[in-house]
Amino acid sequence: MAEKTHKNPERVGSLYRKLALVLFVFALFSGSIFLYVVRISAELYHQEITQKLNLSLAVNISKEALLLEDEQINRPALENIFHMLMVINPSIEVYLLDNQGKILAFSAAKEKIKREFVDLKPVKDFIALEGQPGKLPLKADDPRDPNRQKIFSAAPISAKGLNEGYLYVILGGEAFDNVVDMLKGSDIMRSSAVGLLASLSIALIAGLATFGLFTRRLRRLTVVIQNYTDSDFKRSDKTRYLPEKSSSDEIDALGRHFNRMADHIDQQWSDLKRSDEARREMVANVSHDLRTPLASLNGYLETLMMKNNSLSETEKQEYLETAMRHSKRLGVLIEELFELAKLDSYQKLLNPSEFSMGELIQDVIQKFKLSAHEKKIQIVADFTKKMPFVIGDIGMIQRVLENLIENALRHTPNEGVIELSLMHLSDPPHQNRVFVKVTDSGTGIAEADLPHIFERFYRHQKSRQDGGYHAGLGLAIVKRILELHGGEVTAKNETHQGAAFIFDLPATDT
Ligand SMILES: Nc1ncnc2c1ncn2[C@@H]1O[C@H](COP(=O)(O)OP(=O)(O)OP(=O)(O)O)[C@@H](O)[C@H]1O
Ligand SMILES: [Mg+2]
Repeated sequence: MAEKTHKNPERVGSLYRKLALVLFVFALFSGSIFLYVVRISAELYHQEITQKLNLSLAVNISKEALLLEDEQINRPALENIFHMLMVINPSIEVYLLDNQGKILAFSAAKEKIKREFVDLKPVKDFIALEGQPGKLPLKADDPRDPNRQKIFSAAPISAKGLNEGYLYVILGGEAFDNVVDMLKGSDIMRSSAVGLLASLSIALIAGLATFGLFTRRLRRLTVVIQNYTDSDFKRSDKTRYLPEKSSSDEIDALGRHFNRMADHIDQQWSDLKRSDEARREMVANVSHDLRTPLASLNGYLETLMMKNNSLSETEKQEYLETAMRHSKRLGVLIEELFELAKLDSYQKLLNPSEFSMGELIQDVIQKFKLSAHEKKIQIVADFTKKMPFVIGDIGMIQRVLENLIENALRHTPNEGVIELSLMHLSDPPHQNRVFVKVTDSGTGIAEADLPHIFERFYRHQKSRQDGGYHAGLGLAIVKRILELHGGEVTAKNETHQGAAFIFDLPATDT
């Protein structure tokens, strides 16, 4: 019995759930990255534009004569100007730096300023641009936050008591930051977020639907395979996968392969059952065929022993001869069984050589001369036509010829004829082969027997009844030998004649 461990239907479908989860996580992840990138690039874009627009802002302010009265720094006046500028444009913050970056003047409550010095390197880089927009945005220290940098505009200035100073203008100061924060919650940002969410949801639904479509067939295939294992590997409509008409993708290919594999297993299973039946029948036949001559042998030997004194010499001789015949028969039968077993197990490997079939036939005929003569049967084999050599195991082919001629002699009445002929065919589909035909003038083979005569232990019903000297293995051996040679043997009844057996072997190239 097959193990029924796959009976959990809930598990069929977990692939879909996994795929859906992956898709969902992916959508969430890519949506967040998208929003983040949009925010950063919008900010950078804004900073670049603002800095470009205000490239010469600091220069323009520094040009104002007001800034440096008598070329002296008037700090209160300066801070007033700074204050005024910042009132006019709340997004800027103006500072005065000395040549070390120290903040000298500003307009703000003192506690708001968190730095004493500003790093001058970006300031100098900015001034080196000389009004040409280079690689912007450039950022420098924000005096109001020790950890932050901001875009700026700057210009060098000189005054009495101030050896090389800088006017330093932070663009997008605190007031600007507040506006940006306000914008973050604006309708524009919200509606673009909603738009993104909507498009992601549509993609998600479309993805889920597509996955559903694919996994549905996979689920169907899984159910079919599950049915197959649950039904103890029996084929039925429930265990056959029907591919969708419109598609022929990997899932359908898998389904078709499964069908083919299951059909194959089915076929092999019935072959196995059939050969098992044949094996049982064969064992029954073998024991019967061994027992019959053995029982006779025992019977005659027993009689000889028990009635030894009352039997005449001729009777004794007769009994001994019969016992001998049965013993020989047993020997032949065991020999035949042994031979078939060897042929089956491939223990008997072919030892192929090139030889003349005509000559081999003449040799075999010589062996049967005496028994043919006894029945006044003529064996005709006229091979005047030149034939190519054949390739095969000469010993085994001799056995084939012996079995066929032996059968023919037995089934041909007195004064009959057995004819052997050869034919060489080299046209397709025969591809250079020599055909051997053995025809007799006997009774022929009953139509009902014809399909079975090459089966092991198959004998015509009549011959089975008459004592059973013959086991019905001769033609099975012939068939097996020719199979090993890649050839074939067929039997038919010739009109107005007896049976005809034809077999073929490969010929040498001549
Ligand atoms: N030339 C033939 N004419 C008519 N029937 C034949 C001929 N050759 C074989 N048969 C039939 O085919 C059956 C099988 O032949 P096969 O040679 O396998 O067995 P067998 O001759 O009966 O026994 P074994 O060859 O083992 O001694 C025979 O019993 C017979 O009925
Ligand atoms: Mg035979």
